[in-house]
Amino acid sequence: MKKYSIVIAGGGSTFTPEILLLLLSQQDRLPLRELKLYDNDAERQAIVGDACAIIMKEQAPNIKFSYTTDPKAAFTDVDFVMAHIRVGKYEMRSLDEKIPLKYGVVGQETCGPGGMSYGMRSIGGVIELIDFMEKYSPDAWMLNYSNPAAIVAEATRRLKPNSKVLNICDMPIGIEDSMASILGLKSRKEMQVSYYGLNHFGWWTSIIEKSTGKDLMPKLHEHVSKHGYAGYPGFHADEDWTDTFTMAKKVHDLDPTTLPNTYLKYYLYPDHVVGHSDINYTRTDMVKAGREKEVFGECRSIVEKGTAKDSKFEIGGHATYIVDLATAITSNTGERMLLIVPNEGAISNFDADAMVEIPCIVGYSGPQPLTVGEIPRFQKGLMEQQIAVEKLVVEAWIEGSYLKLWQALTLSRMVPSASVAKQILDDLIEANKGFWPKLK
Ligand code: NAD
Ligand code: G6P
Ligand code: MN
Repeated sequence: MKKYSIVIAGGGSTFTPEILLLLLSQQDRLPLRELKLYDNDAERQAIVGDACAIIMKEQAPNIKFSYTTDPKAAFTDVDFVMAHIRVGKYEMRSLDEKIPLKYGVVGQETCGPGGMSYGMRSIGGVIELIDFMEKYSPDAWMLNYSNPAAIVAEATRRLKPNSKVLNICDMPIGIEDSMASILGLKSRKEMQVSYYGLNHFGWWTSIIEKSTGKDLMPKLHEHVSKHGYAGYPGFHADEDWTDTFTMAKKVHDLDPTTLPNTYLKYYLYPDHVVGHSDINYTRTDMVKAGREKEVFGECRSIVEKGTAKDSKFEIGGHATYIVDLATAITSNTGERMLLIVPNEGAISNFDADAMVEIPCIVGYSGPQPLTVGEIPRFQKGLMEQQIAVEKLVVEAWIEGSYLKLWQALTLSRMVPSASVAKQILDDLIEANKGFWPKLK
């Protein structure tokens, strides 16, 4: 079997150790000859990289391992780039959350003004990774899960239409894990789903049992209409997610015929979200005190002991979708997966040039989207407004247009008026100096 070479971009990410362990656990279907980490923050990456080097030496001495900040060393001779960068790191995520809240508007990593702010930073970072990949390994594929995926995907469609980049999100997978638990199934893979929407903005329309064709929607509707997805958190196990999983019930109330993505809470109940936010302690503060502290603490402890033998790190089971995607390409598995792809008629009554999240069959040549057909007026109306926001952000980035970014913020469901949009925008411009292109 052919052996592959992978670079993880954003090597200093809190998710790197669990993904590395996952890759080691999947050697029967995606055998590796080399694994590299790449980051533009040497210090942050070294903490993770030194611990990973010990894990690799102990568990996979035959796989060459290194970490670097040199793009040439990182991107030469690779088959896959797995990208999870966070341009501006947690420091800027924190401001994305806190600045809108100052004006009583939702402050969130990927939704509303915070997501647009993050998008304006991410586009350049992800495009740079694509350039490195195409320069040093022109045949490689990039599997991108850097956020905000909706805006990043639209930017890749506009700026790199012929590049081998696949944009994917783990939220539907997390929710499907919960659904499988609600149904008493062993795995979400026992279900075959139909779904449509934009990233962090979509609905399941059908869920059947793969082996029998049995309709699983009635049982799920019954549960979600009472409890949302709460009680079955899957990999989103921390307390803060409980509200999000519970609120799915109220999102479901608006269309009891479909099952919603949890992120719709931010668009449909922004008043609830703002009411439950603390401007002095937002999600970033929780992640820093939780995931970052744990992961970096464990990395330091591995390095101190010089061994990972009794390490607390676990295989990132939920990240299996990344290996599923890679093997769909290397082994032509034809797996059905939700990806963020150009619509091109799949949703017949929606913009052909919108990046939509829909089921695709994935094989050697990448994704083949499945037909969705017509979507109802409620979803179409919401999606048209949101896709306009996402496209305006990308146009603002390309053209350096203040006006288009102001229009994007004004058009967002979460922003009450053009004047509030302008105040938030002016604060974000100040905070993002050095990260955003100059706006005229
Ligand atoms: P993190 O801050 O811990 O890690 C990100 C790393 O990226 C940092 O080490 C940082 O130095 C590095 N980085 C920033 N800009 C870079 C650049 N231009 N080039 C190279 N490296 C760069 O963040 P995290 O919480 O671990 O999340 C990582 C990313 O994964 C985020 O974008 C997050 O939103 C995303 N994510 C996506 C999904 C999904 O479903 N799509 C799920 C989880 C996380
Ligand atoms: C989900 C989403 C990701 C998002 C993450 C946030 O998994 O699909 O796109 O980045 O949640 O998690 P965090 O713990 O960083 O708030
Ligand atoms: Mn996501």
